[in-house]
Amino acid sequence: MSRKKIIAGNWKMHNTPQQSLAFVKAFLPLVADHTRDEIVLCPPYLSLATVVEATKGSNVMVGAQNMHWEVKGAFTGECSPEMLVESGVTHVIIGHSERRQYFNETDDTVNRKLEVALEHGLTPIVCVGEVLEEREAGLTEDVLRRQCSRAFRGISGKKAAKLVMAYEPVWAIGTGKTATPEIAEDAHLVIRGEAAKAFGDDFAHALRIQYGGSVKADNARTLMSQPDIDGALVGGASLDAAGFAKIVKY
Ligand code: G3P
Repeated sequence: MSRKKIIAGNWKMHNTPQQSLAFVKAFLPLVADHTRDEIVLCPPYLSLATVVEATKGSNVMVGAQNMHWEVKGAFTGECSPEMLVESGVTHVIIGHSERRQYFNETDDTVNRKLEVALEHGLTPIVCVGEVLEEREAGLTEDVLRRQCSRAFRGISGKKAAKLVMAYEPVWAIGTGKTATPEIAEDAHLVIRGEAAKAFGDDFAHALRIQYGGSVKADNARTLMSQPDIDGALVGGASLDAAGFAKIVKY
């Protein structure tokens, strides 16, 4: 079965609404004829509405970088799934390592967010990945198995149909050190194996797993040619419209 690749730009805390608009104006014509893959832009919260509006009717979708698991309540500074959906957002990144590292995201909150994102019809992009010390200690597989099994806990395969996973080795994020295609492929197989345990073989076979970590125009093709790499979650290199378009068209 061939899985439609999903290539997403995670802008992190970059691009004001005006800068986002300028990006979209430059980017859309460059990828307008590219319907083979799913293309997603993930701007910061404040730029979401601008990007949703500017991409309307195009082949580019919009994702948030995070959300809360509660639908409403006294959670100062947070954003609910309902707010994202009403704003025209279709995707949401969950459990990015920067959220885990700086904002107390845990396997448990990832699980709650995943459940709620699915309930609201969002396409969740759940990030997993090991830090350098864990890789050096030979713990990569354990870490990936733990992060996946806890993220999937209590969720049915039927409900999880839209799930997308992203393997983001933390040591490769923003460092210029990309995982070799072999390292990434091995990790993707572990993630697919955990999905099979939780949701069954057919689900795992159809599951899209992105690679993220210093993806650039010159390594995108090699990475995405691996049999189990179904797209890319791109940080720094997604901030330049022409550069990101090259990655999309790898
Ligand atoms: O979510 C994307 C990411 O963390 C990778 O960032 O800058 O290494 O492409 P970067």
